[in-house]
Amino acid sequence: MTDPLPVCIIGAGLSGMTSAKHLLDRGISFDWFEIGSSYGGNWRYNNDNGRSAAYASLYIDTSKGRFAFSDLPMPKAWPNYPHHTQVLEYLSKYMQAFDLASHVSYRHEVTLVEPTGDGWMVTVRNLVDDTVAANLYRAVIVANGHHWAPNLPQTDGPFAGKILHAQEYRSPEPFIGQDVVVVGAGNTGVDIASELSWHAKSVTVATRSGAHVLPRYVFGRPLDSFTTRSMAKLPLSVQRGTFGSLLFLARGRQPSYGFPEPDGPLLAQHPTVSQDFLRLVKDGQIEVRRNISRTTATDIVFADGTTQPCDVIIYATGYRISFPFLDGDVLGVENNEVALYKRIVPPDVDGIYFVGLIQPVGALPPLAEQQARWVAQLIDGQELPTSAVMKAEIQRDQAELAAQYDDRPRHTIQVDYWRYLDGMHRLCDANDASDGASGIR
Ligand SMILES: Cc1cc2nc3c(=O)[nH]c(=O)nc-3n(C[C@H](O)[C@H](O)[C@H](O)COP(=O)(O)OP(=O)(O)OC[C@H]3O[C@@H](n4cnc5c(N)ncnc54)[C@H](O)[C@@H]3O)c2cc1C
Ligand SMILES: NC(=O)c1ccc[n+]([C@@H]2O[C@H](COP(=O)([O-])OP(=O)(O)OC[C@H]3O[C@@H](n4cnc5c(N)ncnc54)[C@H](OP(=O)(O)O)[C@@H]3O)[C@@H](O)[C@H]2O)c1
Repeated sequence: MTDPLPVCIIGAGLSGMTSAKHLLDRGISFDWFEIGSSYGGNWRYNNDNGRSAAYASLYIDTSKGRFAFSDLPMPKAWPNYPHHTQVLEYLSKYMQAFDLASHVSYRHEVTLVEPTGDGWMVTVRNLVDDTVAANLYRAVIVANGHHWAPNLPQTDGPFAGKILHAQEYRSPEPFIGQDVVVVGAGNTGVDIASELSWHAKSVTVATRSGAHVLPRYVFGRPLDSFTTRSMAKLPLSVQRGTFGSLLFLARGRQPSYGFPEPDGPLLAQHPTVSQDFLRLVKDGQIEVRRNISRTTATDIVFADGTTQPCDVIIYATGYRISFPFLDGDVLGVENNEVALYKRIVPPDVDGIYFVGLIQPVGALPPLAEQQARWVAQLIDGQELPTSAVMKAEIQRDQAELAAQYDDRPRHTIQVDYWRYLDGMHRLCDANDASDGASGIR
């Protein structure tokens, strides 16, 4: 009997890393390609893949207990919210612990992934010698990340200053003494505005829908220690009420700081977490306006009619989901919407799996880990339901998402940490029990 074809993994960020680990656990052979010259993806500062959005002062906003993979805790001595250099150090330990390093082909970009009927033809460019090769694989795991293709809105007007997307932001030095407008009040926007408020001449945040800004710590404990598994089982209205009361005690009403309440209720947006931002607004270090309406050469005119001199606009407006190597027939992406069973499998296409294509309220790694575990089970022979069953579940997931979240491109892949994690665990445990591989995690 001939050996089965290998599997192809695209990307050596944390999602690709845990995918490789689970294929190794099952003795499944694979080729693994990465554009950059090392692993870590977003967590490698100044990554030579040209895609990392990490800035020098970045600390994770999900506590270390929630962030770590199940089989490698973060060190006890580390802070609750580690710095990005510690996250990379942690990922290095993961690479070593599971002996992954020798399996990656660095400086190799996957440029085309096509179904052939017998498997998948994957074209790869060697970025060192500029050669191209195509090989056949039985399955493809796409772990290319979803925070790398900037969503850069048009600037309406003859603005003569500098315009950049937050992905390019590294540190405050280039902005010392400048008038800066930051567009967006997600985690990137509030982090950058808070940092710049100590260095720039002025900082204004332009936000079209506002945000509920949550503190990192409540009563001295990391915020996510209050979002427990049992809380996730309560009806959304009860979660909103409980969480709202906690926030009221911890920080009072948000408008009292001069930052508007968003249009939607709590938990209708991906959370914006900052211990500093509201105080900086209250103390006048950061101005807040509604969205940019237009610009002149030197000024920004906001939607409320006010005007502000501006040297630099930083668009902290998030990212587009993108698979430049895939035909839209394999997976269409419209307004960031993707239709995937369990957020992993396209229901009408065999042998391609998406790992890490979710945005949890809570951290990604443990969820990507269970996704990778399930994908390894599928590649190893576990069956999927019929396409009709998968599509029905996708519809239910999308309806649930629409019932909770504001209708925005940034909310199309939201999942609840505990519900998603526990659901994937149950699925994987049942599969392991059925194929007698219960030791494999
Ligand atoms: C500023 C910022 C802060 C964040 N903070 C947190 C946090 O606190 N907690 C949290 O859980 N999440 C956070 N996230 C989300 C973050 O995206 C994930 O933590 C994590 O980086 C996702 O890992 P990944 O492997 O899926 O993607 P990435 O880290 O983006 O890695 C993808 C890899 O695939 C490679 N690749 C892409 N295309 C190809 C190709 N065609 N061929 C070969 N290789 C390819 C890339 O070079 C890259 O190395 C943050 C995101 C940003 C932008
Ligand atoms: N410290 C940390 O750990 C940290 C730091 C940074 C980022 N992150 C993570 O990285 C991911 C990306 O975060 P992000 O803040 O870069 O992006 P994001 O969460 O998508 O937020 C984008 C912001 O830009 C606004 N926006 C989008 N398009 C706009 C437009 N055309 N005009 C005006 N405003 C627009 C959005 O407002 P609407 O709501 O109106 O669309 C939102 O306020 C998230 O998962 C986040 O948690 C984590």
